[in-house]
Amino acid sequence: MYSQEFQNSLKLVEQARAKNIALEPERMTASQKEELLAQYHPDYRKDQFAELKIGPNKGEMVPIELAEILQAHSRITAEDVNLDAPDYETDVLVIGGGGAGASAAIEANEAGAEVMVVTKLRMGDANTMMAEGGIQAADKPNDSPAIHFVDAFGGGHFAAKRELLSKLVCDAPEAIKWLNELGVEFDKDENGTMITTHGGGTSRKRMHAAKDYSGAEIMRTLRDEVLNRGIPVIDFTAAIELILDDNGNAAGAVLMNMETGDLMVAKAKTVIIATGGAGRMHYQGFPTSNHYGATADGLVLGYRAGAKLLYAETLQYHPTGTAYPVQIFGALVTEKVRSLGAKLVNVNGEVFMHPLETRDVTAASIIRECSTRENGVNTGNGTAVWLDTPMIEAIGGEGTIEARIPAMMRMFGQYGIDIRKEPILVYPTLHYQNGGLDISDNCMSTCVKNLFVAGEAVGGIHGKNRLMGNSLLDIIVFGRSAGKNAAATAKNTQVGKLTLDHVAKFESEIEGAGIDTDVVSPKLLPNYTNQKSI
Ligand code: FUM
Repeated sequence: MYSQEFQNSLKLVEQARAKNIALEPERMTASQKEELLAQYHPDYRKDQFAELKIGPNKGEMVPIELAEILQAHSRITAEDVNLDAPDYETDVLVIGGGGAGASAAIEANEAGAEVMVVTKLRMGDANTMMAEGGIQAADKPNDSPAIHFVDAFGGGHFAAKRELLSKLVCDAPEAIKWLNELGVEFDKDENGTMITTHGGGTSRKRMHAAKDYSGAEIMRTLRDEVLNRGIPVIDFTAAIELILDDNGNAAGAVLMNMETGDLMVAKAKTVIIATGGAGRMHYQGFPTSNHYGATADGLVLGYRAGAKLLYAETLQYHPTGTAYPVQIFGALVTEKVRSLGAKLVNVNGEVFMHPLETRDVTAASIIRECSTRENGVNTGNGTAVWLDTPMIEAIGGEGTIEARIPAMMRMFGQYGIDIRKEPILVYPTLHYQNGGLDISDNCMSTCVKNLFVAGEAVGGIHGKNRLMGNSLLDIIVFGRSAGKNAAATAKNTQVGKLTLDHVAKFESEIEGAGIDTDVVSPKLLPNYTNQKSI
């Protein structure tokens, strides 16, 4: 239910609905997209980036907030811990309790390795849990991994590392099969065939979903599997520094109890970073759809230990973050809403773009509509455009919304907005870190041996923009692969003498570069108060 100030615009949206449903908006040309992105996408705002002065990516530009934590002080010095008396010893240490970490742990355990998971919150407190719209896989007769590759490669501005993207799309059908066998309840029709839909930039319907809580369903299943296998999970324990051995290989991590601040040492033959994304860095002041713990920790740990980053300057702003009401500002409105037929409409009730352009293009179009064109709706807390959800049932029939996107219906219903009858207000929200640590196709860092990376902490799989549903896919494909490869590598690994020399070296580089900072990292939790987080 919207108050009086929205009513004039709402009337225009309602009056135009039938015409807008019939409308087939044109797709933009490549040059129109480029021009739009250059002017309106946040990744192109030069004043929001800073040059890295030290580390493996010295000379490259990254978001100001990321530069700050990459070039920050460690939380510890070598004197704070006793590396000769580890508190834990294992073959494979998994850092992160989301979908990638869980998949890695399951496969490492399956391969016979001793594996443990540390997570700064609890198992499943992760972006995976919050993923809504689905997971892509080319497993229908009219589709193929090659077509999936072409969609994703183009959507990512032809910048993806080919070997990584190729692995993603080729392993996708098997990933869905694996999830099915573990017990994920994907949506199926009356014959038991999996229902698939389009996402932005897909040329085939290959989005498999569990209504609009696909990530929660997948995470529930993976978490159960980790626990059923008896894999040790150390909750509320953050990795705050990687440990190397005297050969320069990854060999464990310094851990910190999030409640007491106590430090511990975990020694491992191989380490997997699966720490997720960075939405809680609130780059450029954007709200976020991300989990509370998404603070780019893996990038900091890896960078300080000498691992290179790839495309850390590219972020994904999901076009449809909730813009109203303020209580759910920034929360994700799944792209599936547009897959089911809802179009984006401006303050005058006009459709201003094709609803399923790729995300970067859609986000930039919304920003343009609200800024230069002044066609946004004033929400009292910014501007926004309408996402005309009642179109869904006008097209798909009564009951479609409750059956296919019940979580959306509930989320807005809590604030008196019935999305079956009323449109919703949306604006881009910080959603995904396209860039991350650079890996080879066996998931090992290109710079630090025995350090594996999976999930959102990886850079290069999607290029400079990711398509919907390829993230739930990459946590499974690369999580599993990291687990298998880390277990295999551990079998032939003798760990040398543990060292934190790289931490001291990084400190001297900070000093040598004249970086004057009192920031310590990894950040671990966002700080929404005036108090310092631990
Ligand atoms: O819109 C969504 O449901 C988000 C999916 C994704 O980021 O893959």
